[in-house]
Amino acid sequence: MATPAPVRVSIVLPTYNERGNIEPLLAQLLPLRRQFDLEILVVDDDSADGTAELVRQLAHGEPAIRLIRRVGRAGLASAIKEGLLDATGDLAVVMDSDGQHEPGSVLRALETLQAGELDLVIGSRFHPGAEIRGLSGRRETGSTWANSVARFSLARAYGPLSDFMSGFFALRLDRVLPLIRAVDVNGFKFLYELLAVSGGRLRAAEIPLTFQPRSYGSSKLDLAVFWDFLISILHSLSFRLLPRRAISFGLVGISGVAVQLLMTALLMAGDRLSFKQALPVAVVAAASSNYLINNALTFRFQRLRGLGLLRGLLKFLLVASLPVLANVGLASAFYSFVSPDTFWAQLAGIVVVFVWNYAASSRFVWNTP
Ligand code: GDD
Ligand code: MN
Repeated sequence: MATPAPVRVSIVLPTYNERGNIEPLLAQLLPLRRQFDLEILVVDDDSADGTAELVRQLAHGEPAIRLIRRVGRAGLASAIKEGLLDATGDLAVVMDSDGQHEPGSVLRALETLQAGELDLVIGSRFHPGAEIRGLSGRRETGSTWANSVARFSLARAYGPLSDFMSGFFALRLDRVLPLIRAVDVNGFKFLYELLAVSGGRLRAAEIPLTFQPRSYGSSKLDLAVFWDFLISILHSLSFRLLPRRAISFGLVGISGVAVQLLMTALLMAGDRLSFKQALPVAVVAAASSNYLINNALTFRFQRLRGLGLLRGLLKFLLVASLPVLANVGLASAFYSFVSPDTFWAQLAGIVVVFVWNYAASSRFVWNTP
């Protein structure tokens, strides 16, 4: 009797400066060839430490290893999406390549996926059977809190899950691929986005994970990642209608309002400057602060540096100064022709200014569509 052909499995390993970690991980994963028709895709974002060169070398003796190398760091979620879209397996597993996820969990996840007629199996750090050795107290509290917010913003069907931000999950590619195509990759948390676009349709379960300390190097999770998470939540709560980047741009705009109010108050303190003298300074300060924060968060994958940063600032101020006139014109037009209500007139002006600033600075300052 012929044995059935082994199931084809693709393991996606995103890497950013993981030269010290990737070789031992690959060595631990390759024995899975005994059970599966295995493919390992390393998606590297042009690491400066030679990760890609090392993987290239390792791939020479090992046809199961494939390297996808991208120039210009586009982020973790985008690396995962690219790896999954290129995967040729029936089943796929995504995991961190820094040694924090135990290679032993891969087999368990695949078995669970196959046994249970499931689409998705998540390796959870917060499952009762899980063990966390590699998270600081602060990160653990942060994740617990983030998970509650995430649960609230996702479909009811996912309520029983416990880790919506995990970097470890296995899925059935044919079923999940259409959703993967739709995942917005401006965030860090691919899994959360996948659950969000699926609207409760995935048959999902969890296995407990043992989360280890990192072997080498340091975490890439920073303030920007937290920001992305906040944006993801607001995006879900807006029924995914508002573009993520526009939400980010809007939040930064609100911070600019605070900067402007604070600046005028400071400049006018002790009768140093009159309101009319203080206002232009405060407006420019607020616009500059908006620009710098947007550059660091909203457009960080197109981030401007050095001389480009200064040139960008001038362009941003130019872009932002046009609608000031339009705002006055529009609010007056609205007031005269649509409704003589000052609140709605001003709101109409503000909305137009926001849309203009967002669209024009995306295009002309950060060169994105
Ligand atoms: N290609 C690519 N591009 N890979 C990246 C990038 C990137 O921009 N940023 C990070 N990675 C890779 C790292 O090399 C590592 O293999 C994996 O993604 C996880 O990155 P870490 O920087 O180690 O994340 P962490 O350990 O702080 O965060 C963990 O917890 C998060 C939830 O709190 C990970 O498990 C995350 O996946 C998880 O979302
Ligand atoms: Mn890590």
